[in-house]
Amino acid sequence: MTTELRSAQWYAGDDRNAYIHRAWMRRGTPADAFGRPQIAIANTASDLTPCNAHLTEVARSVRDGVLAAGGTPLELPVMSLGETQVRPTAMLWRNLAAMAMEEMFRANPIDGLVLLGGCDKTIPSLVMAASSVDLPAVVVPGGPMLTGTFRGVALGCGTDVWRLSEEVRGGTLSTDDFIESESAMIRSRGHCNTMGTASTMGLLAEALGLVPAGLAGTPAPDSRLLAGAHEAGRLAVDLVAVQRRPSDVLTRASFHNAIVTLAAIGGSTNAVVHLLAIAGRVGVGLTLDDFDRIGSDVPVLVDLQPAGRFLMDDLHRAGGLRAVLREVRDLLDPSAMTVTGRSLVDGLDDALVWDDAVIRRRSDPVLAHGGIAVLRGSLAPDGAVIKPAAASAELLRHRGRALVCDSSAGFQHRADDPDLDVDADTVLVPRGCGPRGYPGMPEVANLPLPRKLLAAGVRDMVRVCDGRMSGTAYGTVVLHVAPEAAAGGPLALVRTGDPIVLDVPARRIDVDVPAGELARRVPDPATTAAFAAPTRGWERLYVDHVRQADTGADLDFLIGSSGSAVARESH
Ligand code: FES
Repeated sequence: MTTELRSAQWYAGDDRNAYIHRAWMRRGTPADAFGRPQIAIANTASDLTPCNAHLTEVARSVRDGVLAAGGTPLELPVMSLGETQVRPTAMLWRNLAAMAMEEMFRANPIDGLVLLGGCDKTIPSLVMAASSVDLPAVVVPGGPMLTGTFRGVALGCGTDVWRLSEEVRGGTLSTDDFIESESAMIRSRGHCNTMGTASTMGLLAEALGLVPAGLAGTPAPDSRLLAGAHEAGRLAVDLVAVQRRPSDVLTRASFHNAIVTLAAIGGSTNAVVHLLAIAGRVGVGLTLDDFDRIGSDVPVLVDLQPAGRFLMDDLHRAGGLRAVLREVRDLLDPSAMTVTGRSLVDGLDDALVWDDAVIRRRSDPVLAHGGIAVLRGSLAPDGAVIKPAAASAELLRHRGRALVCDSSAGFQHRADDPDLDVDADTVLVPRGCGPRGYPGMPEVANLPLPRKLLAAGVRDMVRVCDGRMSGTAYGTVVLHVAPEAAAGGPLALVRTGDPIVLDVPARRIDVDVPAGELARRVPDPATTAAFAAPTRGWERLYVDHVRQADTGADLDFLIGSSGSAVARESH
């Protein structure tokens, strides 16, 4: 078997280079460890990524599984991104993390991978990297935290931060009470417990076929996560033996199933950008329109915050992802294969719903048509998205005058101005928040509502933005407008007072200004000044090469795969 392993290119033989590769790895390792599958455990644990800090313990279970199956486990710390800590936005670094991981996977004597992620960007970057190097790989999602409570009420991570902070601004909650809730928000290890981006991407990794059935969504403190991690370690050794690679698993059928799942779980809009980027790495021609075509009529069945009431440990208790998949089995593509070699739909008969308040039946959905809607129009020629499940039904058809914000941070101050010229029909237009403009496409689209409207009882307004929104947030927010303002999109030409028309049923987002007049306009100098390009470093490389949101916001030179071959030696 030795010569069949990729790692044998480093370790086999009796020449000087093989000697060097083996000798420095010895350190008590038995000689026969080099003839076994070398399984890297790509670990995104970091004290600065608190949602992933427990993954080192998870890695130990993976390690035991690899050893039990006859492989050699190798823990590989990789770039980690803590969503709440990294400025200006973790999304700026997703492609850098993916690029760094890909290069290290390729450069090292590795036969297979176990990918440990959790917090928002970590699973997407791991999967993008593994796809481009195309080594056998299995994902272990780190899992959500348990539900914290404050004064007897469950707290949803993220979602309740937005809600409570708006209550302070609206005068219905004291600042002291707000601060007191802070220590109750994060009850345990694990990532956000709402159906935010981390929960969504963990579940979608399983829907794509990259996670052993039933493991995604297991709460981080649950001992079954460690048992699943052990099994994933064993599976990685098997994957090397049969040479089952991401390119075998990530097919059009698996992306179809991920889009159905995204809708049924009421998942994060950020998944659109990540799935498009992953598809780009494996050469599946996924488009923005596929999300509307496949997903928009799929009912939302999972009643989780921010679209609903419950939290991730409720979903796990109610039967988890497998039970959700059983409910929408007729919408899934049965041809999609998983890392186990079985179809995603295999065994779904056994996946029962234990609490149909959390996982609703098809006859009683949270929302009948809940998938992502893709909008086009004079404001978004290349597309924009909205999540109807997180929006206000009465605002899905709306006309109002624009209030343009060239700086989302600046608007935070203006929002409290009692003289701000705004009413409940106003459409807030934060721009300069796209991949190039910010740069990094931050989660600022759900601008805070003006204080005077909050005080009057307004709880939602239409917002239109070229940036993203946290998966834990809610509101009638048109997101990912492409092209973005900084790339010459018409969003840059909108002026305060222009009528904005949103018509989600007709899939339109328009500025009601004659086309000729719009074409004659030039962007305001204040707008273009905000797009000054960075002069050096990663930000410079990113701005020069990032693609627009409608294709996944990957770098143009990272699209596709380079495989795992490295012909040249190091000494
Ligand atoms: Fe890490 Fe929410 S901040 S998942």
